[in-house]
Amino acid sequence: MKGVIFQSLEGLVLTHRDMACWNQLLAKNAPKDRAYVSVNNYPDQELNALVSDICIELQLSRAKVLNQFGRYLFNYFMKHYSVVVGHYSHFEALILNIDSVIHKEVSKLYQNTNLPTMDCMMVCPGHIVMHYQSPRQLCFLAEGLIYGAGEYFLMDVTIEHEQCLLREDERCTLNIYYQ
Ligand code: HEM
Repeated sequence: MKGVIFQSLEGLVLTHRDMACWNQLLAKNAPKDRAYVSVNNYPDQELNALVSDICIELQLSRAKVLNQFGRYLFNYFMKHYSVVVGHYSHFEALILNIDSVIHKEVSKLYQNTNLPTMDCMMVCPGHIVMHYQSPRQLCFLAEGLIYGAGEYFLMDVTIEHEQCLLREDERCTLNIYYQ
């Protein structure tokens, strides 16, 4: 996972707690003197371990923490990748272009990216079906990112997580309703 994701996770912890808390989380879950560089890759287990301890610290389930992280991360992306996403002014266009355009641009910017596949299809205006596949099984992060996009574009968004990799389905199916 790219350092940019860990940098953003630090930001989330700082909004709920403080630097001392983040340093404790790092001391327990990362090698000594870890400093995340946005373009570098770090082990997925490190992210998972940090998230698990954040769940304990905030007394929230993993799904809730990943959801909150996704909301936070979306705003972080909008600030830090304005070249890639600055021209999107609608929720629907952004969601339909994540896989085929936005994440493609991300993999041109960085080497060795580990991105999910997210096939999207518009069923009708106000309803998109997204199929999420990833060995990292971060579907609740994806949900949070989509809710974050809804908040960003002032849309009312509801997601039905119909099939789920975490329930051993072949892929996640997210029905995204928006108005
Ligand atoms: C990684 C979904 C928008 C850049 C991820 C991951 C998910 C995800 C779930 C974690 C990796 C995995 O699951 O395998 C989404 C969704 C988005 C969105 C649902 C919109 C609602 C964006 C935007 C950017 C972006 C706007 C930046 C322009 C990245 C980067 C990573 C990532 C840099 C880390 C890749 C790596 O570690 O190699 N995305 N994303 N995403 N995404 Fe997105």
